[in-house]
Amino acid sequence: MKTQVGIVGAGPSGLMLSHLLQLAGISSIIIEDRSRAYCENRIRAGLMENWVAKMLVETGVGARLEREAMVHDGIFLAFNNEAHKLDFAKLIGKHVYIYDQKEVVTDLIAHRLAHGGQILFEVEGTSVHDFAGNGGKPSIRFKHQGKDEVVECDFIAGCDGFHGICRPSLPAGLWAGYDRVYPFGWLGVLTESPPPEKELIYAYHERGFALFSMRGPQLSRLYLQVAPDEDIEQWSDDRVWDELETRLQGVRPLKRGKILQKGVTPMRSYVAEPMQFGRLFLAGDSAHIVPPTGAKGMNLAMADIRVLARAFEGFYRNHRTEALESYSATCLKRVWKGQRFSWWMTQMLHRVHGGEYAAFDMKRQLAELDYVTSSEAASISLAENYAGLPID
Ligand code: FAD
Ligand code: DHB
Repeated sequence: MKTQVGIVGAGPSGLMLSHLLQLAGISSIIIEDRSRAYCENRIRAGLMENWVAKMLVETGVGARLEREAMVHDGIFLAFNNEAHKLDFAKLIGKHVYIYDQKEVVTDLIAHRLAHGGQILFEVEGTSVHDFAGNGGKPSIRFKHQGKDEVVECDFIAGCDGFHGICRPSLPAGLWAGYDRVYPFGWLGVLTESPPPEKELIYAYHERGFALFSMRGPQLSRLYLQVAPDEDIEQWSDDRVWDELETRLQGVRPLKRGKILQKGVTPMRSYVAEPMQFGRLFLAGDSAHIVPPTGAKGMNLAMADIRVLARAFEGFYRNHRTEALESYSATCLKRVWKGQRFSWWMTQMLHRVHGGEYAAFDMKRQLAELDYVTSSEAASISLAENYAGLPID
């Protein structure tokens, strides 16, 4: 098989890249190791920055989003038994959207396939080759339906997530990983119950953080700070609800309902630099991950893709290589701001239990929450980062 850009991974990054390339008249093939159904049902991010929603609509894959996404004016920060609204619409004139990542993936897969896109699902043993320098002819090798296959291409886009094979294929010694592991994780549940508020509530409590998000008027997505290696078996449905209720600290009534799904995610910040080597470009989670508190993961992935698609377009349309050469530096500027914001939200809202500074840190966190919700300058700073920093 031959194509211009070989893409590893059919998550939001790989699919959006393939879509933008098609609009620019550039061919691509996506290699994905999971099934289509698995990709379309993987529950992950929910919150979409303003410009990402706009990009999906403007490029023709936002029709369902426009009908179904929940539009949000802002968020609540709850602490000391009170809920404080940060009204982004008033502060910075922007909204954010709740539209599940699995719906983005579902829409993009349908659109790609309807427009002649090639996505090979359930491949095995993917490996990437000959991408160093400008002379080689890059290729992706894998097994599909029991047969050895090769995609020959001009470029490889490594959109294969944090546990993919592209980042580990970069030559040792020529890149660095910047890592920070947090001493907690999130227990996430999807529940058949109305969300306690129209807006999301980020709740700080002495027992730990909780987030009250949603997927619909009768569907809630709720998270609890737990240990990174928390044993999910220890969390009966009643215990989950009791803990959510405690951490919501009475700021809103909490209606209980059937828990449809339950899982634990550890939290980590990670950046690989540079995000490119020769003709292999990393994008999204394969290059960087953030703790979920700032809701930045999928949004940063989309920002990488926007830069990468434009760089390929410059190359194929005008034989220009500058944007390809500066791809990593351009993306990393935004990535590190996303890292900073995600870390900042995380350290402000999570309790570190025990240790000699625990009592001091709790007082400091409460002061920070009071500051953020009472100073217009601080509220605007949170709002502009949360709703999405400007794109050029
Ligand atoms: P991915 O979505 O990971 O897609 C990578 C794709 O590559 C996958 O389909 C994978 O199957 C495929 N792949 C991997 N290896 C190979 C291989 N060898 N060959 C072929 N294909 C391969 N962000 C938020 O903002 N809020 C959240 O609540 C949130 N929750 C999350 C929960 C979990 C468990 C995880 C893992 C992430 C979460 N994120 C969240 C982050 C967000 O979902 C990611 O930032 C987003 O998925 C990044 O998209 P991506 O396309 O770069 O990577
Ligand atoms: C959701 C997840 C987040 O990490 C976040 O900060 C906001 C919303 C969600 O899944 O709805």
